[in-house]
Formats: sequence, structure tokens, C-alpha cells
Amino acid sequence: MEKKINIAIDGYSSCGKGTLAKALAKALGYVFIDSGAMYRAVTLHMLRAGVDVNDETAVSDALNALQIGFVNNADNLSEVTLNGVSVESEIRNIEVAAKVSEVAKIQSVRTRMVALQRAIGQSKGVVMDGRDIGTVVFPEAELKLFMTASPAVRAQRRFDELIAKGDDVTLESIAENLQHRDLIDASRENSPLTLTNDYRVLDNSDLSKEAQFDLAMDWAKKAIAGN
Ligand code: DC
Repeated sequence: MEKKINIAIDGYSSCGKGTLAKALAKALGYVFIDSGAMYRAVTLHMLRAGVDVNDETAVSDALNALQIGFVNNADNLSEVTLNGVSVESEIRNIEVAAKVSEVAKIQSVRTRMVALQRAIGQSKGVVMDGRDIGTVVFPEAELKLFMTASPAVRAQRRFDELIAKGDDVTLESIAENLQHRDLIDASRENSPLTLTNDYRVLDNSDLSKEAQFDLAMDWAKKAIAGN
């Protein structure tokens, strides 16, 4: 049987990490895990419970009362669950987006999520996207991608996505939220977004989804073959 590897995809918000990760997982028959969805589900819980996300102690206490997991939907894609219930669509709203970086800064939250992520990756055959997957979660991942795109391209993509869903948002508010999250994600003390020299950098500002997929698939095949 062909060797299975883990693929780590890190990068800024709205760079198309999820789209590429899903396509790679489908083509390789691997499991796709959106680690950002886990931080979003924790955030959703805090908002619902009225916990102040800037109060680390309150967040840590509330963390003990929640279970994060995944279920497969009808399309065989994993959806994040909060206490056993899929919250895949609720976690994409602007309220969660506005607070998630604050929650993801908290070490107790990260420790819990990283332990879950490592357990999922133990038997290999996982494509996981996030911010610290190749640096902290799977430092031994056989393929690490760092995705980037220009801020304007990223804001437009997220705007189009939310408008298609029927959300009432402006391009300016999206651009501001992305900038805010980039800053926190890259400058936080705990597991900041960064890359090491074993990453392959993929700037997709001017790449079609197909061209990007072909490139990444070529790298994946080489990594599976062990070179
Ligand atoms: O990928 P996303 O936009 O859904 O991620 C939501 C937030 O979670 C983002 O602001 C950074 C944080 N995050 C993180 O700190 N570590 C990860 N592995 C994934 C996401």
C-alpha cells in the first residue's frame, strides 16, 4: 500500500487554504481537518455562554465544559462539532470572526486543540490547514505549504463568499477584519503564524485554483514517494 503522509497548510486568513486542503484530501483519499474551525467553535461557545474572551481565566474555565469534535457530512467532508452538534455554518459569521483571534491567543485553548489535532494525525493521511500546523502540531509533516495572497485579493474573496451566503457586509469591514486578524495571528506570543525553511511557499494571488492544485499535487506525490 502507498505510504501515507501528513500535509500541513499554513498561512494568512482567506488565502484559499481550505479550498486547496479539501481538494488535496479528496484526490489523495485523505482526511481534511480545518483547524481554524476548532478555534471558531470554541469562540462560538464563549459568545453563547456570555464569556468575556479577553478574560483568560474565564475562557479556560469554560473550556472544561465543552467538547470539540468532527462528523462527516453527506459529502464526506468533516464538519466541526460543539458538544456533539455540528456548528459548521454558525462558526462562519462575522461575530465569531471578530473574536476568534483573541480566543486563539490563549495558551490553554491552544494546548487543548493541539492535543486533539495530534490525535487525529497520528495514523497519517491527514491534510490540516491553520496557522501552526507545520510548526507546532505536526513539525514532522512530510509536506508543509505556506499560502499567501495579496490583501486586496484576499478581502475580495472573503467578501464574495459572505455575500453569496447572504451576509450584509462591506468590503472595507472585511479588509479591516483580515488586517486585524493577520496582525494578532502573526504577532501573538503563543504559536504565532510563521514559517520555517522546510515550507514550500505558494502565493496564489495570480494562480487559478487548477494551477495551484496541480502544483501542490505534484509536491504531495513527491513527498509520498519520499523525495
Ligand atoms: O482559518 P480561520 O480564519 O478559520 O481561523 C480562525 C482563527 O483561528 C484565525 O484568526 C487564527 C486562528 N487559528 C489559529 O490560531 N491556529 C490555527 N491552527 C488555526 C486558526
